[in-house]
Amino acid sequence: MPLCSNLKQLFSEIDKNKEKYVDNLKEVVAIQSVSAWLHKRAELRKIVDWIQVRMQKLKIHVELQELGQQSFQDGKVADLPPVVFGLLGTDPKKKTVLIYGHLDVQPALVEDGWNSDPFVLTERLDKLYGRGASDDKGPVLCWLHAVEAYQHLGIDIPVNIKFVFEAMEESGSVRLKELLLSEKDKFLADVDYVCVSDTCWLGTNKPCVAYGLRGVCYFYIEVESATKDLHSGLFGGSVYEGMTDLIYMLNTLVDKDGRIKITGLYDEVAPLLPTEREIYKNIDFSVDEYRTSTGCDLLVHNEQKELILMHRWRYPCLSIHGIEGAFSESGVKTVIPGKVIGKFSIRIVPNQKAKQIERYVLNYLEKKWKEYGSPNKMKVYMIDGINPWTEDPLHPHYAAAVKATEHVYKIKPDFTREGGTIPVTLMLQEAVGKNILLLPVTAGDDGHHSQNEKIDMRNYIQGTKLLAAYLYELGKLD
Ligand code: BES
Ligand code: MN
Ligand code: MN
Repeated sequence: MPLCSNLKQLFSEIDKNKEKYVDNLKEVVAIQSVSAWLHKRAELRKIVDWIQVRMQKLKIHVELQELGQQSFQDGKVADLPPVVFGLLGTDPKKKTVLIYGHLDVQPALVEDGWNSDPFVLTERLDKLYGRGASDDKGPVLCWLHAVEAYQHLGIDIPVNIKFVFEAMEESGSVRLKELLLSEKDKFLADVDYVCVSDTCWLGTNKPCVAYGLRGVCYFYIEVESATKDLHSGLFGGSVYEGMTDLIYMLNTLVDKDGRIKITGLYDEVAPLLPTEREIYKNIDFSVDEYRTSTGCDLLVHNEQKELILMHRWRYPCLSIHGIEGAFSESGVKTVIPGKVIGKFSIRIVPNQKAKQIERYVLNYLEKKWKEYGSPNKMKVYMIDGINPWTEDPLHPHYAAAVKATEHVYKIKPDFTREGGTIPVTLMLQEAVGKNILLLPVTAGDDGHHSQNEKIDMRNYIQGTKLLAAYLYELGKLD
């Protein structure tokens, strides 16, 4: 497919601005917008203000939607950052696309094993390292840079754009749903398509577009055995230890192969359709490359490609994340923790529902606790429950994304699903009711949430072209 002259110009304009794009990413990575760090809530404000200024420079009409405060179980409260609404273009003859991205990131500390400061964007071998470089600050900037390229060249953007940028995604998008539902007939009226660039490719070479996400149910198990920590030499042997109880409880959840042991947990999982296996067979996915990107020696399911994809996309899984109150520093500390909180989550899939999963987990763990017979206090509760999301990929919207991908990468993308969760997708499905598309710009080995998160220079620049081409292709849909 030959490139039309507009796209040619856009692509060469984007190539010319590489250094400026990297400088911008450097500025946003330096803002420590970790939504899980309560002491850094001011940084969430800071990144919202930063993006507001940049959007206004692009003549985007910005409104900040305040969400008030967030209250926690232990009585703490914290300010919520406002949600950024942006509007560019109100031409009634054009279609309108809603673009979503998030400005907050996961926690990161050099001590976790980063090779450079996670909040200082660092270039090594054409890769840009920094927390949020890939998830999701890089892709958010790609959108703004794509708009800037159109404007700089005086090329008319063929669609109206509405932006929704938030800074609480990594903490479950607190209160976003209420806001979006209340804007259903206001800011969210007249939207035709929704596009989210907050996922990544399956591997490192083949582009994809995605039409499904797993949901997630996040649980705490609290065990309290004493009102404070105790010296294990002085008190060990005479007290019922909470940590021992918690480890027992956590160990009832899942076996070594990942099979979840909670009664009823698989009951609602959608049965495998006779033709479904074909879908996974046809996807470009190298188990070797994937294994290498994980840093693991061996993967489950006999390393079979189809099974691995199915267990990432269409079956549930359970992960144990950590224990609050446990001793985790290096060195020796001989203590019996007084109170510990075990944290685990279950990724859920069609046709599972968070409410039902909550019942299964609570019933199961309460039964296990009774059988176990410890006199300590145990409490289990679900902190957050988000349902899975899927979309119809046969919609013309997806065809536009395919064409955009072909313009940039000269290849058709795979249609994939994803194992992660983006809370806003379901909220937008409800509040907007239009076709939603996940259009990743980043690579599968970027290390989301991990040490040394990065975005490849190629993906950052070609990704900007991809989004520019997507807007162009949207303008051609009927
Ligand atoms: N961008 C990710 C989700 C993602 C990444 C989906 C790659 C698919 C491929 C998002 O920022 C994320 O991490 N979401 C959290 C949501 C949770 C905190 C409610 C997740 O999935 O753990
Ligand atoms: Mn993300
Ligand atoms: Mn994330």
